[in-house]
Amino acid sequence: MTDQPLDAGEQLAASTSEASLRRTEARSAEIEAQIAKDPSGFRVMTGDRPTGNLHLGHYFGSLANRVRIQDAGVETFILIADYQVITDRDGTGPIKERVLGMLADYLAIGLDPARTVIYAHSAVPSLNQLMLPFLSLVTDAELRRNPTVKAELEATGDRPMSGLLLTYPVHQAADILFCKANLVPVGKDQLPHLEQTRVVARRFDERYGRVDPARPVFPQAEALLSKASTVLGLDGTKMSKTKGNVIEIGMDADTTARLIKKAVTDSDRHITYDPENRPEVSNLLMLASLCTHREPAEIAAEIGDGGGGGLKRLVTEAVNEFFAPIRARRVELAADPGYLWDVLRRGNAVANEVGDATLAEVRAAMNMDY
Ligand code: TRP
Repeated sequence: MTDQPLDAGEQLAASTSEASLRRTEARSAEIEAQIAKDPSGFRVMTGDRPTGNLHLGHYFGSLANRVRIQDAGVETFILIADYQVITDRDGTGPIKERVLGMLADYLAIGLDPARTVIYAHSAVPSLNQLMLPFLSLVTDAELRRNPTVKAELEATGDRPMSGLLLTYPVHQAADILFCKANLVPVGKDQLPHLEQTRVVARRFDERYGRVDPARPVFPQAEALLSKASTVLGLDGTKMSKTKGNVIEIGMDADTTARLIKKAVTDSDRHITYDPENRPEVSNLLMLASLCTHREPAEIAAEIGDGGGGGLKRLVTEAVNEFFAPIRARRVELAADPGYLWDVLRRGNAVANEVGDATLAEVRAAMNMDY
């Protein structure tokens, strides 16, 4: 039994095991070292669902890391995953405003359209067309066992599973493979998608073959787990729009101050950094730490007996100071929607060129190049 090779479903589940996580972390450190030496061997692809404005959890959890990777010279593709919005929702919502807001957030934090391709799902037909051959390479059993699909289904309550929710890991494989990305910066929750993507790439090679005998059509994409810290919401639980505990990147200084004033702390006036026993206080200290590049314990010592009030004053100042230039840029960008749409149109054009080339190769590998 034990030396039976894992089937793909088991492999997906295994991708979230502790041992596998340690391996992925170790590999991520190696990749970081390689990037520092020579960024040219990598193509990074990642993205977000346009379901609302980006917040500080996004910023410190992943966005800052993308800017760092871009600035290190890695070619970067950033997807505004508009089709993925409808995997677990009944409608598209105010999608245009949200896409525009996301573009403003991206550019304000320092993603540079001259170096980074920013584009939307719905604007790249070749990406979506890859879904069809890819669907032939997976089984429904394997999709049903995908931990990310299961988690999202549970999160939607009693909503029946749509065909798109069931197959969205395959769509995400198309996101990654349409541009032949070999590196995907993700959080732990997305690791099953990466495993699914590798499975799809491998099976495509086995079943449909190659155009260039020396290399498969699709690379084996690897995860880049960021060392980034998790910033929780103002109530000490996961920062999430639906919980009303977020600070958005684009909020103004007064709104930020008002929200931090309402943040949950505890009754001990002596401020200490103790994530285990004082999660809310420690989260606020972490936020201040990330904004000031100082150690949280050092900040705590400085506040001393200043209590929740002192802590909140310091955090407010740190956040507002750190985000002031980003917010000023965002205000300017938001005032010029014509420019933002133009950035997206240019990104879409590049993505289409890249995707068309990949699709041509796929057709050739499948002998469907008439
Ligand atoms: N699933 C990701 C999320 O919910 C967004 C996403 C879509 C993505 N396609 C991707 C991330 C491809 C990485 C690679 O946030």
